[in-house]
Amino acid sequence: MILFTNSNFFQGILNLGTSENKLCYDLIEERLKRLDMNYLEPELFHYSDTQGTKSFREEIAKFLTDYARAAEALNPEHITVMSGCCAVFATLSTVLCDPCDGYLIPTPCYGGINSKTWLYGGIQPVHVPLFSEVTDEESHPFQLTAEKLEAALQRAKNQLRACIRSLSSLLNPLGTDREKILHFEKHLYELHVIMDEIYMLSVYGDATFTSVLSLDCVPDPERTHFMWDFSKDFGMSGIRVGVLYTRNHEIQKAVNQLAVFHGCPGPVQHVLSQFISDRDWLDNVFFPTNKKRLKEAQNILVDGLADVGIPVLKSSGGLYVWADFRKFLKSQTFEAELELWQKLLEEKLLISPGKAFYCYEPGWFRLVFSDSVDKIYLCIQRLEQMLHADATESAANNISSNADALCTLKEGSSGNPSNTPGDDVSQLKNILLYYNHICI
Ligand SMILES: Cc1ncc(COP(=O)(O)O)c(C=O)c1O
Repeated sequence: MILFTNSNFFQGILNLGTSENKLCYDLIEERLKRLDMNYLEPELFHYSDTQGTKSFREEIAKFLTDYARAAEALNPEHITVMSGCCAVFATLSTVLCDPCDGYLIPTPCYGGINSKTWLYGGIQPVHVPLFSEVTDEESHPFQLTAEKLEAALQRAKNQLRACIRSLSSLLNPLGTDREKILHFEKHLYELHVIMDEIYMLSVYGDATFTSVLSLDCVPDPERTHFMWDFSKDFGMSGIRVGVLYTRNHEIQKAVNQLAVFHGCPGPVQHVLSQFISDRDWLDNVFFPTNKKRLKEAQNILVDGLADVGIPVLKSSGGLYVWADFRKFLKSQTFEAELELWQKLLEEKLLISPGKAFYCYEPGWFRLVFSDSVDKIYLCIQRLEQMLHADATESAANNISSNADALCTLKEGSSGNPSNTPGDDVSQLKNILLYYNHICI
């Protein structure tokens, strides 16, 4: 049990755990101060269409048609606006499933939705565990394959009915595993697919993102649903506006009934309409600067981690790196992962342990780089100090007593260490409890 009794404990903690983009506040602030943002019509203060105001949905349709390079112009009537992607996922999954149904989700995945969705519609995640080892049939670590989806489905057969949520964003912001999910959905089980493309425009370097909206021929358009929001790509996680695009009229009708609980304020919809309709600002100021700053920040963190001896998974999208700390674990267990996480926290560095994302392999951590360069350098410095001090300490311990080491090994082996994410629920609860306070 982790108990933080001293309130000073939280002071000075460097937070590289929360996936927020803080690199472009200057640009957003400047744009928000322009006169068009101050224009408020009385209707914006009245009850409005729970699906989102018509004018905002029209702007979103134009914006996504262009920036997701949609195969055909998006229809504003297929759009529902809600207070963030969490709300979109909670309502949509509730409509698609009955209580006690499950949904397939490749892990590691965004843990925030998973840990709470069951509170809403009573549905449970069914994990499709992915691993770092690349087999002969695979081309990259943590790759999703049809076989892995199939195996998870078979394991959960009695429980599972309706949907798959895709991981287009945690380890695979480029969504290259999407074809497998769509194929699986259509040809094998007629499941629904929810494409979470929340990092769609946070792609940099030479990489391009292929949205599901851009595909000419989706196997089953009526069962393929898209979600995106302003949290990551515009660095506005506090504004709480998410978008559902679905061509399934019946499903959308039901979602719109629940949307009444998750509406967005009229003035916020107006402000965001101004943002996304200003193409000159988006194309010449915001997106090029954002991409440049993201790439620079990523390079600094990746290089710094390499100097400390921590490899990361290659990526050209998202706000974070997925880093391999396995060689710094005392043993390859989730207890050791938690211990390392706690030690880093004591050194005032907050990063996210893989277990918070339901990773099945201990030793992976997520570090967010979309913050000031000073913070990234400070993170590297703290990591270096701590891991170096640890290495010196363990070298000293190793030399001083071989006999002790043998003895400890024996004791440790009888201690029944847990090595699967599901084994030690309380450990995870502690992490999530802490996360609920400061980090998403
Ligand atoms: C992949 C993914 N989906 C959905 C969300 C939830 O987005 P929001 O908090 O804007 O509702 C997050 C937040 O971190 C995320 O990483």
